[in-house]
Amino acid sequence: MSEIKFKPETMAQVEAIIKRYPEGRQKSALLPILHLAQEEFDNWLDVPVMDYVASILSIEPIEVYEVASFYTMYNLKPVGKYVLEFCKTGPCCLVGAEKIQDYIQAKLGIKVGETTADGMFTLKTVECMAACGYGPMMQVGDHYYERLTEEKVDRIFDYFRNTDPSKVYKTDPLTVAGLN
Ligand code: FES
Repeated sequence: MSEIKFKPETMAQVEAIIKRYPEGRQKSALLPILHLAQEEFDNWLDVPVMDYVASILSIEPIEVYEVASFYTMYNLKPVGKYVLEFCKTGPCCLVGAEKIQDYIQAKLGIKVGETTADGMFTLKTVECMAACGYGPMMQVGDHYYERLTEEKVDRIFDYFRNTDPSKVYKTDPLTVAGLN
């Protein structure tokens, strides 16, 4: 791996985030800085990346590892281009989340925690994302996909496979297809 260092513009954001907190409380900036690190270093947090973040915040590496391993939004191993965060909490299960999860796994040929052979999708299960009234649901990037059906899942995967990544979150494929 090449030298781990934030780009100057990212470092400026990091410094601005640290300044939000009182002297000696720089650890409070850890979560947003881990988001920036994940975004900049291939969408996952390798140990040297977490060590780098620890050095910036003058904290112990273990303090970073324990936070990064607690929250599901941080990836601790390489992931596909799109991470499917699929809700597996009770209210979503009551409206068919398990059936949709089975469908996704069969369609993509992967299990939870795995990435498709083409590097396109990683499937993760996560706890409630506060859209319980709209289950089954999953988050991809910053976007929520709700009241999932097999038809919607097909549409979403086609959309991600066939859309320019720089434009992918600018449209809701389900709304366009009249499925929302
Ligand atoms: Fe799935 Fe709350 S239970 S969003």
